[in-house]
Amino acid sequence: MSENNIIVVGIFVVDLAFVASKLPLPGETIIGDNYIIGPGGKGSNQSVAISRSGGKASLIARIGDDQFGEVGRNLYQKENVYTEGLIIAKGEKTGSAAISIDKNGMNSIIVVPGAASGLKKSMIDEKLHLFRKSSIMVTGFEVPLDIALYCLKKAKSEGLMTILNPAPYFDIDNTNFKLVDYLTPNEHEASSLTNIEIQNIDDARVAGRRICELGVGTSIITMGEKGVLCTTNSDDHDGLYIPSYKLKEKVIDTVGAGDAFNGAFATAISEDMGLEDALNFANKAASLSVRKSGAALSAPFREEINQVWFKDL
Ligand code: RIB
Repeated sequence: MSENNIIVVGIFVVDLAFVASKLPLPGETIIGDNYIIGPGGKGSNQSVAISRSGGKASLIARIGDDQFGEVGRNLYQKENVYTEGLIIAKGEKTGSAAISIDKNGMNSIIVVPGAASGLKKSMIDEKLHLFRKSSIMVTGFEVPLDIALYCLKKAKSEGLMTILNPAPYFDIDNTNFKLVDYLTPNEHEASSLTNIEIQNIDDARVAGRRICELGVGTSIITMGEKGVLCTTNSDDHDGLYIPSYKLKEKVIDTVGAGDAFNGAFATAISEDMGLEDALNFANKAASLSVRKSGAALSAPFREEINQVWFKDL
C-alpha cells in the first residue's frame, strides 16, 4: 500500500431497495415495480467511488461473518479497495438498509448498521498504521459518533487531511469542527447544522459562512440538481458556486450520489487538483451516478468522469 492512500472509516451494509411510483405514506402499503439487492453503506460506497475514480482506497469497517459480509468482501476484491482495515465480527450480523425509491429517483432510507455499530476506539488504534500510510481520512456519522470524532482527532494528529460527510446528521460539540478540513453536508444536513433553511444558493452562501465560522476549513454544501456551494472561510462572502451537470439520460436512482461525490472529491484532493477542478470532478461523478440503480455500483469510473466534457449539458 502506498503512502498516498485515502483511508475511509465507515460502514458496509447490504441495501434492499424497492422501486415504486411513489414513496409509501405512514401506514400505507403500495405495489412496487422492482427491487434491487446490492452493496451499500456510505463509507463503503465512498471507498468504491474513490477506487473507481482513480484514487487508492483503504477501508476500515466492521462487518459480520455472514452472507451479507461476504458480499462486501467480494466487492472490495473486485473494486480494488484495500481491506487490511476490515474487521470481521464472528457470529454477528452485517447491517442492511431498507430503501424506497420513487419514479423520480427520490429515496428514503432506514439503515441498520449491524456489526458496524460495534466499532470501538481500540479497533481504530489497531489500524492506526493505515492512517500513517494515508494522506486523507474520510468519515461520516453512520459509524458510532464517538468513533467518527476519534478518527478525526487521530487523523489530524497524524497530519492527514480530513473530509467529514455529516450523514445522517447528528449534533456534535462545536469544538470538533476545527478537526475538519472539508465538511460535505447536503442541504438538509447544512440546514440542521446552521438553523438556516436552505432553499436556494443565497441561503447556502449564508450557511456556508456560518459553517466556516464553526472552524471548518472548507464547507461544501451539496444540493443535488441545484449544484454545490463551496465556502473557504468566514470572510468568503459569495463562496464558489458550481452548477450540477445535467446529463441527457433520465435520473434513475439518486441513492449513493452523495457518496460518489465524496469519493471522487477525495480522489481529486489526493491528486492535488485545485479546489474548483476537484469540485467539478466530484460533481460530474455524482451526476453520472444517478443514471444507474444501486449505491456502490452506480459510482462512475475515471474514464466516464473524464468524458463528461464531451456530452451535451
Ligand atoms: O448514501 C447511500 C447509502 O446510505 C445507502 O447505500 C445506504 O446503505 C445508506 O447507508
